[in-house]
Amino acid sequence: MTSNDDVSLKVMIAPSILSADFSQLADEIDKIDKAGADLIHLDVMDGHFVPNITFGPGLVETVRKITNLPLDVHLMITNPELYIPRFVEAGADYITVHVEVCTHLHRNIYAIKNLGVKAGVSLNPHTPIFMVNEILEDIDLLLLMSVNPGFGGQKFIQRTLEKIRLAKNIIKNHNYKCAIEVDGGINDVTGPKCLKAGADILVAGDYIFRSGDYAKAIKSLKTF
Ligand code: DX5
Ligand code: ZN
Repeated sequence: MTSNDDVSLKVMIAPSILSADFSQLADEIDKIDKAGADLIHLDVMDGHFVPNITFGPGLVETVRKITNLPLDVHLMITNPELYIPRFVEAGADYITVHVEVCTHLHRNIYAIKNLGVKAGVSLNPHTPIFMVNEILEDIDLLLLMSVNPGFGGQKFIQRTLEKIRLAKNIIKNHNYKCAIEVDGGINDVTGPKCLKAGADILVAGDYIFRSGDYAKAIKSLKTF
C-alpha cells in the first residue's frame, strides 16, 4: 500500500521496530516489508512521559530512507508540539500524540494535519474514551494502548476489548473516518479478539520479531 491509502478500509498490521534487531535494522525492515507489513510503527519515548528512552527524528529519517512503507510514529513524549515539525521533516506519514500530555490537543492535531501528515491520538489504558469525544471527527487514527506504554513484551490488558467496542460504536454512529489502532501485547490470541471488537490496525512488536517467521506471524494476526 502507499501512504495515501485510506487506513479505515482494511485490517492492517504495523510491526513495532522496538523489538527488532537494531544491529540489522535495514534487513529487519526489508524482511517485515516482504512479510506483508502494512505500516512501520516507531515508538518514540522520552524518559519523562514513559519510563524508557528510545530514539528521535534521526532514526525515523534513517528508516524513511530504507522503506517505502508508511511510517506510523507514536510519540510517547511530553510537549510533543515542540517536535512535530521535526518528525514531519523526518518523513512520518502518521504522527500520534498522547491525550494525557496535550493541554491543547486540537491545536496539536491541526499542527500535524496542516503539515500534510495524518494525525492520531493515543489513550493510555486508564484514560476513558470520552476524553476524545470532541476530537474524533478531526483525527485519522485513535491509538488505544492495551499495555501501559514504555516497553515491548508486556501482557495485553483485557479491558481494552470493551474500549475498542465503545470507540467503534461512536465512530460508526457518527460516520467518522478514524481508524482504531491497538498497541501492546498483541499476539495470535489477542489480535483477532481486537479485530472482532472493531480494531482496524494492530501494532505488534515481540510477537512478530520473536516469531522466527515474520510472514506467518503477520498472517496469523489478520486471521479472525
Ligand atoms: C509500548 C509501545 C508498543 C510496543 C508493542 O509502549 O507503544 O508499540 O512496542 O510491543 P509488544 O507488541 O511487544 O507489546
Ligand atoms: Zn507504540
